[in-house]
Amino acid sequence: PADGVLAGRQVVITAGPTREALDPVRFITNHSSGRMGYALAAACAGAGARVTLVSGPTTLEAPPGVERIDVQSAADMHAAVMEVIGQADIFIGAAAVADYRPATTAADKIKKADGDSQLALTRTRDIIADVARDHPRVFTLGFAAETTDMEASTRAKRERKGLSMIAGNVVGPEHAFGREDNALFVVWDGGERSLAQASKAALAEQLVALVAEGVRPIDAT
Ligand code: C5P
Repeated sequence: PADGVLAGRQVVITAGPTREALDPVRFITNHSSGRMGYALAAACAGAGARVTLVSGPTTLEAPPGVERIDVQSAADMHAAVMEVIGQADIFIGAAAVADYRPATTAADKIKKADGDSQLALTRTRDIIADVARDHPRVFTLGFAAETTDMEASTRAKRERKGLSMIAGNVVGPEHAFGREDNALFVVWDGGERSLAQASKAALAEQLVALVAEGVRPIDAT
C-alpha cells in the first residue's frame, strides 16, 4: 500500500497456532506456520501503523518495529488480545486458534494403561467474534480456511462472526498450511474481490490496502 495509509492507527494481529495442554508434556495443536499473520504485521508496520502481534509458537521473527506478545493457548491468546484491544483501531485475526481444548489439564504426566483411552474436549472462546461484539468501533479482518464451498462459507462466516472483512482461502492437499503462496477471496460489507495466487507478503500488502479503504476516517465519531 501507499506509504502511510495506516499512519496513526493501532493494529492488533493474532498469528500462528495455539497449544492446548493435556498435561505438562503434551498438547494439541495444528500446522499453522504464522506466515500470513507475520506478513500482515510487516505490511501494517510498513503502512505506518503501530502493530502489536499476539503470537502462538512459531519459528518466525517479529518484523522490525512490531511489538510481539508470545502466548501458548487459545485462552492465553484471548486474554492477551483483550488486554490491548481497547487502544486498537484494527484487529486482524490470522491465528489458527484451537476450537477445542482438553476439558482438563493434568498437573502430572498422564500415565499410559493397557486399554484405549478417550479424550474429553471443551470449546474455546472465539477471539475475533468477541472483539467484533464488544468493540464495534474496531475494524475486524478475519480469515476462513475452507475445504468445500469456499466462497459461500466465507460470506457466511463474516456474517456469523459480525466481521468488517474476511479473507477466505481453499485448504487441502494442494493448498497446505505453511506454503509461501496463496489465493484469497475477500468479502466486506458491500464488496468482494478475488486476490490471485501470490506470495503471502504480496497478499498482505493488498489486504492492508483494502483494510485502509474500509477503516473509518480518523476524525469520524
Ligand atoms: O471459525 P473459524 O475458526 O473458521 O474462523 C476463523 C477466523 O476466526 C480466523 O480469523 C481466526 O483467527 C478466528 N478465530 C478466533 N478465535 C477462535 C477461532 C477462530 O479469533 N477461537
